[in-house]
Amino acid sequence: MKVGIYPGSFDPITLGHLDIIVRASGLVDQLIIGVLKNNAKKPLFAVEERVAMIEKVLGEQYNLPDIQVKAFDGLLIDFAAKEDAAIIVRGLRAITDFEYELQIAQTNHKLNHKIDTVFFTTSVEYSYLSSSAVKEIASFGGDITQFVPGCIVQDIFDKYK
Ligand code: PNS
Repeated sequence: MKVGIYPGSFDPITLGHLDIIVRASGLVDQLIIGVLKNNAKKPLFAVEERVAMIEKVLGEQYNLPDIQVKAFDGLLIDFAAKEDAAIIVRGLRAITDFEYELQIAQTNHKLNHKIDTVFFTTSVEYSYLSSSAVKEIASFGGDITQFVPGCIVQDIFDKYK
């Protein structure tokens, strides 16, 4: 069985992430969404909240294969090996993502040759989208409905009450 890991902060999950999840889930037998626990970026949502939001979003999708959501800590490559993953999935929005992603992918491959990183180019309608932008818009009470799945819009606004 081919297992893939889609790792990230998901603080919060966006429609861009969901697009990658849907597309990547067709590439592997089992997709595991790895949610980074101890993030230097100081996340807005606790890891349990981020996992719960992703599970809620996936619960609303039709025709998706079984996708697991798991929190992880430490090195991504160790988490991927523990889960017996063959690939790590990452999304590339623009050339600005590339340098950072290339470095991480090559470093991870150095650490474990058995696991490759596969890049999905983001669908054009989400090429500008980031969790940081969503948080900034929400913090000023702006409309985030076109950026995140509808079922988590209120969860995000609740953080800024
Ligand atoms: O959504 P993000 O914040 O861009 O995701 C970044 C993530 C989680 C993929 C990256 O920070 C990560 O893998 N962190 C775990 C620590 C690690 O393995 N670092 C890479 C060693 S070079």
